Order: sequence, then structure tokens, then C-alpha cells
Amino acid sequence: MSTSSPHRLIRAFLRQPVDKTPIWLMRQAGRYLPEYRALREKAGGFLALAKNPELACEITLQPLKRFPLDGAIIFTDILVIPDAMGLGLYFAENEGPKFKKMICSQEDINKIIIPDPTEKLNYVLEAIKLTKKELNNKTPLIGFAGSPWTVATYMIDDAKKMLYQNPELLHNLLAKLAESTVLYLNAQIDAGVDAIMLFDTWGGLLRTPDYHNISLYYAKKIFSGVNHRVPRIFFTKHGGQWLEEMVDIGCDVLGLDWTVDINKARLRVGDKVALQGNMDPMMLYTNPKKIQEEVECILKSYGKHVGHAFNLGHGIPKDIPVENVAALVDAVHELSTKYHG
Ligand code: CP3
Repeated sequence: MSTSSPHRLIRAFLRQPVDKTPIWLMRQAGRYLPEYRALREKAGGFLALAKNPELACEITLQPLKRFPLDGAIIFTDILVIPDAMGLGLYFAENEGPKFKKMICSQEDINKIIIPDPTEKLNYVLEAIKLTKKELNNKTPLIGFAGSPWTVATYMIDDAKKMLYQNPELLHNLLAKLAESTVLYLNAQIDAGVDAIMLFDTWGGLLRTPDYHNISLYYAKKIFSGVNHRVPRIFFTKHGGQWLEEMVDIGCDVLGLDWTVDINKARLRVGDKVALQGNMDPMMLYTNPKKIQEEVECILKSYGKHVGHAFNLGHGIPKDIPVENVAALVDAVHELSTKYHG
């Protein structure tokens, strides 16, 4: 991995000194932005946006035009892998993501073809290339994928039931997802992303032994197969109790949700990884003053140390006031200078 970067965010990921704490936000491109809703309306839906490289690039850049964010994240979704496997992703109004074909049997799994990303997911790779060109190396671009378990929870009617009733079936699916994810993340890196993130959003539903055998096992497998040219972030929502175990899977940064005390987290992981997080996204419903106080609280808790990238503990809610996001980004930059240099 290249160890020198001009970008504040990448430097924080690599635990190098910075002038201010960098900030980017999970779901920074999305429905809280009126310009997102307008373009989505025009395109005819989320998938029409995501599958059009020019529009995906435009959406990726929207939040950067409004706020001085330190990172961009490519506009796509973790569910494009099963879509590329032929399961038919669609969004039913107000019901979230769904698949036309669900995974119920070994036969269903046998039919899954590991997608060649340069063919089936080329629209994401094209969006990355276009966005990199537009960013002109001023802001780093983050690529991502979902953890096999998290993606599987959308492909199976009840993934926890399968875990106990037919663990072999579940693992056969997770192995195919992991293999696909390695190819996909390597293709994103070849297309130019500056960091990658693995979203293990539903890892927190697992018992500790299953968290080891599923979340950590496949994350480690993925990270060992992915080119380590760029820093890697691993994030398990509600995974705060497993931080010590996460540091050994080959990632550079751990994402923290809002339930974790960031100072204690730093002491627990030592100097092995950087930390990303962890303001409660629901605090964006308050007001600029409360947000500033919370930012100060998190920055102070982390203290004068390298290796902090500010973020929310999960994605931005869809209906928060846009001014509050501006207040958050400015507060992080302004209030953090005293913790650096
Ligand atoms: O962070 C970003 O700005 C990049 C874009 C991004 C999206 N999805 C776009 C999106 C990222 C990083 C994701 C990841 C994702 N997708 C996760 C993991 C992280 C998390 O938030 O937990 C998960 C579990 C999904 C699956 C998914 N996609 C769900 C559950 C939904 C519907 C719920 C919702 O928030 O609307 C989606 C749709 C989706 N993906 C939208 C966006 C902007 C909303 C679509 C719309 O209505 O316009």
C-alpha cells in the first residue's frame, strides 16, 4: 500500500498526522438532498440512477458541492452483487429492497454464477472512472461492498432461521458471495477508488460464535483476497463488543456505531487500526448548537491522537434538515484543529 497521501481522509485512515479531523458521512448522497430527489424522480427510481454511470457520478458529487466533505463514496448499493447474479433486484414502494428470485435451496445456490464485474457490474466501474475524473484528485473516492452475511439477509427469506436449520446451505451461499465480493472490490480498486469499505450492517444480529464464523471469517477471507493497495474500512453495526477481534482480519480502519465510547474503543484497539465514527445520526434532527456540542464531545473523547475519521454511527436519515449537515461538517473542521499539530 502506498503510505503517502495528500488527502486528509486517507492520512487519517493510515494513522498519519493531519491539520483537522476529516469527515465524510455514510449515505451522504441520498434522499435528504432535494437535488437527489429531483434527479431520482426524473430517472424513474433508485436503480435507474445507480445503473447510469453519468447519473451515478452526478449523485456522488452532489453532497460535495454543498459541503466541504473530505471524501466521496461512489453512488451504488451493496445489493448490486446479487442483482448481477441474476436474482432481479427491485424496490417496492416504501418496502425497501427485494429480489424476484429468493434463495431457498442448494439448487438455487448451484444456479448462481459468480459475476464477472467487468461485464455485469461495469456500470459501477464506469461511474467510478467518471467520478475520479471529475474529482481531479482533490477528494478521495471510497468504494464499497456489503459483507456476505448482510447481503445474504436480503437474499433469504429468514437468514437466521437458515443459519440454525441448514448452516451448510447458508455457508455455501456466503462462500459464493465472498468470492464475488473479492472480484468486485478488486475491480473497483483497478477502476481507481482510494479506499474500500465493507458494510456488515447486520453482523450485530449474530451470537458471538456465529459472529466469528460468519462476519469475521468471510471479512478476513475477502480482505486476504483483495489487493491491499488502498486502505480498508470494516464496519459492523452493533458490533462494539467485538472490536478486539476485528483488528486481526486485515483492515486498516474500524467503523464504530453510536453506542460505542470512542475513547474506550481507541484504548481497546491500541495503535493497530484507525477509527471511523461515531455520532448518532438521529442527532441530525436537533439543531446546529446541539450538533456542535456533540462534535466537541466526540473530538475531546478521541483526544490528541492520530487515526480518527469523523462520521456518523450509521447512514444519514432521509428527512433531516440540510442545514444541520452543513453545521456538522463545519463543526468538525473548526473544532478539531486544537487536537492536531
Ligand atoms: O453512502 C452513500 O452515500 C453511498 C450509497 C449507498 C447506498 N446504499 C445507496 C442507497 C451505500 C453505501 C449503501 C449501502 C447499503 N445498502 C447498506 C449498508 C449500509 C447501511 O446503510 O446499512 C444496506 C443494508 C443497503 C441495502 C439497502 N439499499 C436498503 C436497506 C435500502 C432501502 C432503505 C433506504 O435507506 O432507503 C437501499 C436503497 C438505497 N441505497 C437508497 C440509497 C440512497 C435509497 C433509495 C431511494 O429511495 O432513493
